[in-house]
Parts: sequence; structure tokens; C-alpha cells
Amino acid sequence: MSQPTIESILQENRLFPPPSDFAENAMIGSMEKYKEIYDKAKADPEGFWAELAESELDWFEKWDRVLDWQPPHAKWFVNGKINISYNCLDRHLTTWRKNKAALIWEGEPGDSRTLTYAQLHREVCQMANVFKQLGVKKGDIVGIYMPMIPEAAIAMLACARIGAPHSVIFGGFSAEALRTRLVDAEAKLVVTADGGFRKDKTIPLKAAVDEALQDNHAPSVENVLVVQRTQEKVQMEPGRDHWWHDLQAGASADCPAEPMDSEDMLFILYTSGTTGKPKGVVHTTGGYNLYTHVTSKWTFDLKDTDVYWCTADVGWITGHSYIVYGPLSNGATSLMYEGVPRPANPGCLWDVVEKYGVTIFYTAPTAIRAFIKLGEHLPKARDLSSLRLLGTVGEPINPEAWMWYHKVIGGERCPIIDTWWQTETGGFMLTPLPGATPTKPGSATLPFPGIITEVVDLEGKPVKANSGGYLVVKHPWPSMMRTVYGDDDRFRRTYWEHISPQGDQHFYFAGDGARQDSDGYFWVMGRVDDVMNVSGHRLGTMEVESALVSHPAVAEAAVVGRPDEVKGEDVYAFITLEGEYDASEALENDLKQHVVKEIGAIARPAAIQFTDSLPKTRSGKIMRRLLRNLAAGQEVAGDTSTLEDRSVLDKLRSGA
Ligand code: WT7
Repeated sequence: MSQPTIESILQENRLFPPPSDFAENAMIGSMEKYKEIYDKAKADPEGFWAELAESELDWFEKWDRVLDWQPPHAKWFVNGKINISYNCLDRHLTTWRKNKAALIWEGEPGDSRTLTYAQLHREVCQMANVFKQLGVKKGDIVGIYMPMIPEAAIAMLACARIGAPHSVIFGGFSAEALRTRLVDAEAKLVVTADGGFRKDKTIPLKAAVDEALQDNHAPSVENVLVVQRTQEKVQMEPGRDHWWHDLQAGASADCPAEPMDSEDMLFILYTSGTTGKPKGVVHTTGGYNLYTHVTSKWTFDLKDTDVYWCTADVGWITGHSYIVYGPLSNGATSLMYEGVPRPANPGCLWDVVEKYGVTIFYTAPTAIRAFIKLGEHLPKARDLSSLRLLGTVGEPINPEAWMWYHKVIGGERCPIIDTWWQTETGGFMLTPLPGATPTKPGSATLPFPGIITEVVDLEGKPVKANSGGYLVVKHPWPSMMRTVYGDDDRFRRTYWEHISPQGDQHFYFAGDGARQDSDGYFWVMGRVDDVMNVSGHRLGTMEVESALVSHPAVAEAAVVGRPDEVKGEDVYAFITLEGEYDASEALENDLKQHVVKEIGAIARPAAIQFTDSLPKTRSGKIMRRLLRNLAAGQEVAGDTSTLEDRSVLDKLRSGA
């Protein structure tokens, strides 16, 4: 089990102060310094952010108000004009960083490429001009469905350059999931590749785009731009589909960055919630640029000598904020890797660390648990001495995995930053600052300066130290999501109405439970809603249920997360069948495949249990809590008195 328990937290009293040589050279090198900055920011958040916006970013025109807060809507740097692609590229070209590596890319088949800031700028400008040529205008939304290749980052920056918000759709999503996202955003252009390499196979991305667009099912899409990657044969529809290399050849490298309003939409990113329909999280330009810039700078303690590697995919927020925008805005060197460990080369990540002398390595607890399984002989056979800082994100990290990471990968000399945040928050909320914060294995420690977090009850009252409650943010911050695309009402309901504090207060709550220990450290306990965390990927139980019930054999489906040693959780589905169908292994496989088709391989149920009935309350609500216990093989805990038919439980336990 990966989720921490209250017992394990109360017993966890190991404390790791920042190594003294790290602290000496760090931007923020002591707890006193952190507290000083934190207190200053708390006393005057607007002044704090304004000072940083002034010193850290380039603006075409200065804002006239720092914050306009009409709960739950915030506007930051009102009427300021800025372009994040300019801040990530152009401003570095007038410094020595012009010829510094911006992106180092290592491809799965072993090919590689390095783009300096000047080269990246050139390609971004060319792609931006190609977008314009294809009719994309400021405000038009561009879908990006790509493998982990430099062109994914280039496409994002090209969108930002001309003010066309992007909607990146993870390359592991199915054609059906791609279609619903393209339709919801009314995307005009899709940028994709012929395919991507995944382990020993290729993923047919272009074919998935064809399927998504077939029979005019995503009518807003006018053009498809295709990057050649795998060289596999694809259908190119005349007039609609274009090869990137064909158009790049004729494209000018001159494309000035469009001055954008601070509050112009930068991107939409879909994420799972408690209902079947994924929501489009909207982020805007100025505040997001500032927040990802400052958090990257201080939390990774970025230096010009660093080779920084975040192993996430650009299809998730981690890739947006901490592969592309945050590091590049700082002029850092960001490494992108297309591969994943596979039987032919289980130590490939450590080869990459050694090959490029990676200094900062940022990954997920599920990956660390997989490394532990693969064996410590793999990292031990490589030279990892270049590493100076390690990070984790995506789910609570179990202290054993933390200790292994510290010892085997970090050689006991690298601080570990456990960063808690979400698609919605845009950037780190709780995190150690590596030269300042003493760490405790399993705790995301303390809030970033300018962030005010608390653990509260449903009335918004703080709970006692070491008791569980809801993790909330009490003051707006620059990179907070602005709304749910096309559904502002859902934005209010989802994030701002669960907790009802007294008076005129408004607390942001996005679904995590937490505790604060007697030192004030935060321990995130995981989701308290119907959202699963499978290998660090966020999946709604209802989303998988709707996929299952769209199969003709399924009458009813209830999905829960089941604890898994490596993945954190896996998907466990209870199914009742329509009368004319019988349970069989073939049907089970068919249903799993159906979920892969509807959502993607990340949602594939690990197990399906057929049953005649599901446990429900008298009012007809499925009692998922009981199903979670059953799936985990635990005794059914808590109150079962609201159960309508108690015999259902016995049947389920006996597997019927
Ligand atoms: C959910 C957000 C933020 C990028 C990756 C996932 C969980 C994330 C931690 C952490 C405990 C964490 C939370 C959160 N989570 N980081 N360090 N400790 N839990 O982004 O898909 O928006 O998921 O991931 O449950 O709500 P996401």
C-alpha cells in the first residue's frame, strides 16, 4: 500500500536537514531566510508578487493593478501585456544564453538532439508562422497530440507566441478521448506526429487523429499538422493534412511575439474529476508565467550549470509547468526523454543521467517504486555523482520509497523535494526549499512563499495538529486556474463550495485530505473524492464507469481504486450484466479492451468482478466505500446499516 496511514506518520520522526554544502550555495539557504520571505509574502501578497513580476519577467506594458479578486475569480496583473514565449526564448537571445542548451532530447531508439535557445527560438517562430498560414488566429485553440519529442514543446511555445491557446492531449489517450477533448475546446488545428515510440512498439498517433475526426465528428478542426517521427505509413487527407517538414521548409523564422493581456488564456488542460466528463482547466498568461518561473527557480535552486530533468510527459501539467515553461523562462537546460524502462534496457534512465551529467532529477513515487523492483544494481552500475537534487510529485510518497531514493539514487547527499500541487494550481503549493527546509520522508513539508494553506473541517475551521481534514488554500495565487472551460458553474461547484468558512472567506479545495503535524508540516493523505491515482495519473471512477456502461453487455458498473504496490492504485470494476449476457473470461477481456478504446491504456481495469447486484443505500446510491474494502481484500469497515440488501455483501465476498 502506498497511501500513508496516520500510524506511519506519527511514527515518522526522521529529519533530514539540508546538507551544509548544498545550503551554502543555495539561493535560499536557511529556514530563517525561508521564514523571512514567507512572512513578508503573507503580510503583503500583492506587493510580494508585484516585486517578483517586475524583477523576474519582461513585460511589454506594465499592469495597473496587481490583483482583482472577485471570489472565486482572480485577475492578476490587470492590463499588463506579456508573452510567455518571449520570456522563455527571446529575452535569453541578448545574453550569453543564446547558445546555451535549452532542450536536450533523448529519443527512445537512441537518437538525440540538442536545441540551443537560438535554435529553439528559430523553430518556434517557424512553427508559429506555419500556424498562421493554416489560418490560426489569436484566440483559436490548437490541439496538440504528440509523443515526447522537441516538436511537442515547440508547438506549445508557437501557440503561446501567437496567442492561440493550446490544449495538449496526452499521447496515451485513445481516439475517442481525443475527440471529446477536441470537440469541447472547438480546436481549429491539431498538431500530431505519424507515431511515437513506446517500449518496443510504435503508437499510431496520426491514425488516432484520423479516427477522432472521421465522419466530421470534430467539425471545428480544419487542419492537421503532422511531424514525421516513426516514418510509418499514414494517410494524408489532401487539403486537411500537412507535413511539418514540408511547411517548415518555406516558413520564415521571423515572428515577433504577440503582446498578450495578462489574463488571456494560455492553455486548457483536461483533467479528471468526480463526474464522467473531464474538465478543461483554464490557465492564463501573466500569473502562470510568474508562478512557474519563481517556483522553478527557488524550488529547484536552478543554476546555469544545471542539467535539469523532469521525467513527466508534456501531456500533463508537470510537463507544461516544469519541462517547458518554468525552466525555459529561467534560461535553464531542460532534458526531455522519450523512453521508459523496458526489459531490453531496464537501467535506461540511469544511462541518461550518466550520459548528460543530469544534476536535478524530478520523477514520481510510482516510478521510484518500479526502480526499487527492478533492483538497485541498475543505478549502482552507473555514475550518478552529477546529481545534486531529487524531486517527486504525483501522489503521497511512502517513507520506504523516499529512503531508497535518498540512499540509492541520491547517495545520501541530495535533498529531496516532495512537491504537492495539481493541474488546477499550475505550480508547486507545498514543497521544501532544498537549501532551507529540513525534510521528513513522506511529507511535502511547508507552503511555498505567498501560499497560505491549512487543514480544516467542512466549516473551514482548522483541525488540531495530527488530525485529518481537508487541505485548502486560503488566498488567491498567480497561477491558480481561472475557470473550467465553458462551464464556470462547474468551477464554482467543484472547487469553492465544499468547504463553507465563516463570513466573507473563500477557500479553494480540490479534493485532498491532509494532516499537519506538531511542527506544522503537511502530510497529504490522498484524495477524499471519487478520483483514483493510478501510477500518478488522475482518473475519475465515474469516467471509467461511463466507459464501461457504454458497452452493450454492461447493465451497471462501479469502479474503485485498489491498492497496488507499484502503481499506488489500480482500477477494479464491479459489473452487473444485461440479462442476455453471461460472465466469461472473453467478455472480461472485451470489457477491458473497451475501456482502452474509450479512454486509453492508463484506465484499463486490472480486475473485473461480475456480480448480480451492487451494494446500494435505500436511496439507490452505490456504496463505493464497501466496494473499496472488498477490492482491497479487507474487512468491510464502518457503518453498513444504510445498506438496502445485506445479502449482497456476502455474495460479493464469495465472488458471486
Ligand atoms: C493530485 C493532482 C501535480 C502534478 C501531478 C499530478 C496528488 C500530487 C502530490 C504529492 C501527495 C500528491 C494529489 C493531487 N498529488 N502531488 N507530492 N503528495 N499527493 O497532477 O493530475 O492534477 O493530480 O495528485 O492527490 O490532488 P494532477
